Amino acid sequence: MALQIVILAAGQGKRMRSGLPKVLHPLAGRPLLAHVLDTARALKARRIVVVHGHGAEAVRAAFPDAGIAWALQPEQLGTGHAVQQAMPHLEAGGDVLVLYGDVPLVREATLRRLLEAAREGLAVLTVELDDPAGYGRVLRDQAGRVARIVEHKDASPSERAVREVNAGFYALSAPRLAGWLKRITNRNAQKEYYLTDIVALAVAEDVPVIGVRAEDEWEVAGVNSKRELAALERRYQKQAAERLLDEGVTLADPARIDVRGALQCGRDVSIDVNCVFEGRVTLGDGARVGANCVLRDVTVGAGTEVFAFSHLDSSVIGARCRIGPYARLRPGADLADEVHIGNFVEIKASRLGAASKANHLAYIGDAELGARVNVGAGTITCNYDGAEKHRTVIEDDCFIGSDATLVAPVRIARGSYIGAGSTISKDTPPGQLTVARAKQVSVPGWKPPKKKG
Ligand code: UD1
Ligand code: CA
Repeated sequence: MALQIVILAAGQGKRMRSGLPKVLHPLAGRPLLAHVLDTARALKARRIVVVHGHGAEAVRAAFPDAGIAWALQPEQLGTGHAVQQAMPHLEAGGDVLVLYGDVPLVREATLRRLLEAAREGLAVLTVELDDPAGYGRVLRDQAGRVARIVEHKDASPSERAVREVNAGFYALSAPRLAGWLKRITNRNAQKEYYLTDIVALAVAEDVPVIGVRAEDEWEVAGVNSKRELAALERRYQKQAAERLLDEGVTLADPARIDVRGALQCGRDVSIDVNCVFEGRVTLGDGARVGANCVLRDVTVGAGTEVFAFSHLDSSVIGARCRIGPYARLRPGADLADEVHIGNFVEIKASRLGAASKANHLAYIGDAELGARVNVGAGTITCNYDGAEKHRTVIEDDCFIGSDATLVAPVRIARGSYIGAGSTISKDTPPGQLTVARAKQVSVPGWKPPKKKG
């Protein structure tokens, strides 16, 4: 049966106290809505409709090619009204699953159980909470069947004592949804069109209502405040850390790692405290990452060690390299095997051949280094002339003395030695020492200056 998914995401999220629409607040580095969309896509829905309203343009702009239909709800008149706005975008047949854009941790398996239950009638996801305040309560009849959902504000004291609450997710047939939505009114404490009223309408028509319990209350936890967002972030990171441990990764402290994307690790990888992984990061067998490193969209080869306080972005690092401490790899750094990059070395859009080294205080940008090049402390590639960028080429087995400035475009031929402190603006011949600096002089009889008077 064809499945269509409606995601409610029009709410403002006043309690976030933010100019950013609620569903765009990041969890693990990605908008809340992106997590829900991932789960929706995993269910292989024929169609996904997002009901949006607050910050509509910003929300749409954040998902440019998402392959989803956008339904606008300019005024938020309730969850029932929100789903009504989605109806023109839905096909008449098949099943509909309703999700919230601000409930990011719901699992695919739970939604599959909900869809399974919807074969019998109207399936409602519920959860038992220690503190149910604020939620709609699930009221069951003597036989244990779901009879009604009553909103907290409309509930009597005895109804408020019920701890089983409505998570807000439903699965049902599209024709039934269309029919019941037409009959929802806003005669209630909040003057809202409650989607929950479809439960009583189903019962009145003898359509079974199946309450499916979520196993884990985190799955149905929504984000209404920065506190809740922070709590969900911690929960997400705890799960990410446990997954890594289960895969055999050594974490110095599972409570002090943040994975904001996809982190793939080989065997015997070890990660020290306070590291942040963003985008797609791959750590090869035996790779080690020291404390306080940030890695974004990076591939690290087997046996490579990244020392503390290194910042690596959009780079590829070969096997058995030593990076840091305090190294900075900017986008386009491409390091072959056994490269050493030391403290306060910045590499940008440059390739370094095998076993090349830049161990201290250097800037290498727009450069191509061969194998076994030794870059001395303080070396700079002057890649920018104020208008354009130029390339520096350093062939195999060169030795660049400390504090050299290489004014691009320039080529340092194979086996060149560059004297310390040289400013090199012309290509060098292979295998020779090139020195470009003022001659050292000492002045005989020189006296230090004295203060007058
Ligand atoms: C709703 C349920 C309640 C349930 C709770 C779970 C109703 C009437 N009540 O509560 O039983 O326990 O969810 O969290 O459905 N939204 C729109 N447009 C609107 C109103 C809401 O898009 O006009 C979206 C919100 O952005 C949010 C979701 O729907 O993502 C739920 O809205 P919210 O106001 O948080 O839920 P309640 O109505 O309080
Ligand atoms: Ca509400």
